[in-house]
Amino acid sequence: MTDPSAATPPPPAFPNLRIAALEGDGNAFARLTYPAYRSFLAPVGMGTVAFGAWVGDIPAGLILGRRQEGGMALLSVSVASGWRRCGVGGRLMEALATAVPGGERLTATYSSRLPARAAFEGLLRRQGWGEPVLQSMRAAGTPRAVLDWAEAHSPALRVLRGYGLALWRDATPDDRAEVERLIAAGTIDADFSPFAMAAQFEHWPDNSWMVRRDGVVVGWMFARLEPPDTVWYHGAAVRRDIEHIGPLLLMFHRVHQVAAERLGPDSTWRIDSFPRTPAMLAFMRRRIAAFASFVDELYRVDRPPG
Ligand SMILES: CC(C)(COP(=O)(O)OP(=O)(O)OC[C@H]1O[C@@H](n2cnc3c(N)ncnc32)[C@H](O)[C@@H]1OP(=O)(O)O)[C@@H](O)C(=O)NCCC(=O)NCCS
Repeated sequence: MTDPSAATPPPPAFPNLRIAALEGDGNAFARLTYPAYRSFLAPVGMGTVAFGAWVGDIPAGLILGRRQEGGMALLSVSVASGWRRCGVGGRLMEALATAVPGGERLTATYSSRLPARAAFEGLLRRQGWGEPVLQSMRAAGTPRAVLDWAEAHSPALRVLRGYGLALWRDATPDDRAEVERLIAAGTIDADFSPFAMAAQFEHWPDNSWMVRRDGVVVGWMFARLEPPDTVWYHGAAVRRDIEHIGPLLLMFHRVHQVAAERLGPDSTWRIDSFPRTPAMLAFMRRRIAAFASFVDELYRVDRPPG
């Protein structure tokens, strides 16, 4: 199973520790990774790089990587609970780094819900990895929870009395011209152009909205219906100077009124998006988190190429 020639010498303070590349059947280490990755160990297959840590004969740690274009992805690193904070995780990280060809990237992606997040981030920092970069945010919940929350916090919606909602499919030539102008001026990110979004996926025309202020369009929110009862929010954008006022919430509320009517209050909504602006980030972290049953953030960290 192991290649003794790949073994690294144990540090003096931990004489029984041995780190070595796993080959062949790595099942003895299966409990040290996520169920989804266990098949990579039985046997350790092409494209997988695995290093095990033994204390005496006992498997005490495992690091798993998968080769990908331009480098390697760190899938998991885990140390048995009795051996944590003894440097084993660090040794495993160093071992994996030796398997990455010079100039190539070693990358990790993890969720903010990782129970050992503080330990993992500490380990990455100690190993000289870069800063975590937010990749996307995910959330899920029911229309009922959104509408109940809105009822209890109606002032958050009341301040928006001057705003009017209309379905995106009813956008007038003036609305479209204003959207073009906002994007050309950089006031709204081009990736969130409603024209681009409409081309990228089949939106739900009865539940994709725009918001006007004083008759002028200032934002939009696109939903996609996934039968039988799930709404995905694919993109929303609001003119940057007013996004903190809450038009996003106004559209989000309306989408859920429609979802509750059409799909039922206990249907599902999901978001998988990247908030580009501080206001969008705050909307996801504060507002959405208040009524979602699930929220997480996905981060990516790179080890600087060696
Ligand atoms: C993350 C993990 C692998 C770290 O392994 P470890 O053997 O304890 O790590 P090390 O002893 O090499 O620690 C190296 C550095 O990481 C940081 N660190 C480790 N555990 C930490 C903790 N609980 N809190 C804060 N920082 C921590 C410290 O900076 C530490 O250096 P220090 O002890 O000199 O301060 C271990 O906690 C673990 O197995 N967690 C569960 C599995 C997991 O969630 N893995 C990550 C995602 S796949």
